[in-house]
Amino acid sequence: MKVAVIVVAAGSGARLAAGAPKAFVPLAGRTILEHALHSVAGMSHEPQVIVVAPDDRLDEARGVLARVIGSGDVVAGGATRQASVAAGLALVGHADVVLVHDAARALTPAALFDRVVDAVAATGSGAIPGLPVSDTIKRTDAGGAIVATVDRSELSAVQTPQGFPAAQLIAAYASAAREVTDDAQLMADAGHPVAVVEGDPLAFKVTTAWDLRRAEELLRPASA
Ligand code: CTP
Ligand code: MG
Repeated sequence: MKVAVIVVAAGSGARLAAGAPKAFVPLAGRTILEHALHSVAGMSHEPQVIVVAPDDRLDEARGVLARVIGSGDVVAGGATRQASVAAGLALVGHADVVLVHDAARALTPAALFDRVVDAVAATGSGAIPGLPVSDTIKRTDAGGAIVATVDRSELSAVQTPQGFPAAQLIAAYASAAREVTDDAQLMADAGHPVAVVEGDPLAFKVTTAWDLRRAEELLRPASA
C-alpha cells in the first residue's frame, strides 16, 4: 500500500503573531515544520512526503525536508488552507491513501499517523483523529444569551492527520463547491463516509502564543 502525506505549512500564523509564518517559528531549537516532519519520519510506512509552504520559504522547506525525510516535494501554498491542500494534492504520485496534516500540530506522535493509515486501509474510507470534548458546550445567540446546552457525548474535537482513499480525496477536491476548514467536510459534501478514530492530546494545534508555550513546556527536559 502506498501512502502520501501532505504537510500544510503555508499559513501566515496571524494568531501566533511570532514574526514569521507559523511553521517556520522556532520551538525548542527547531522550527515547527521540522518537528512535524520528524513525526512523519517515524511512520512505519515510508510515504511520499509533500510540504506546502509560503512561496518565499520554498528553499527553506526543501532544506528541512531533505534533512529530515531525505526526499519529497515542496510546493507553494494558496490563500486558504483548502487552496494549499489542493496544491499539495496536485503532486501526489501513485498513492492508495493520502494523509493531510497541519504542520502546526508539531508534537503529533508518529503512531497517530500509523493509526489513521491503518483505519483507512481497514475500512476503505476516510478516518480522522478526534478526542472527546471535556468542557460543557453552550449554544448562544449573537448577544451571548444561552440558547441551549449541547449534548457533548455527540461531539468530537478533531485533529490531523486526516486520511482518505486517494481517489476519493482527489475527486472531492475536484468537485469542491465551497470553502471548508477541514478535508473531512469536503469528503462529507461529496457523499463519502468518514469515521473518527482515537486522537492524541499531543496532536493539539499551535495556534496562539499560549499553545507555543505549552509545546515548549512539553519538550523541556525533565531534569531542568
Ligand atoms: N495553512 C496553509 N495555507 C493557508 C492557511 C493555512 O498551508 N493558506 C496551514 C497552516 O500552515 C497550518 C494549518 O494549515 O499548518 C492549519 O492552519 P492554521 O492553524 O489556521 O494556521 P495559520 O493559517 O497559519 O494561522 P492563522 O489562522 O492564525 O493565521
Ligand atoms: Mg488559518
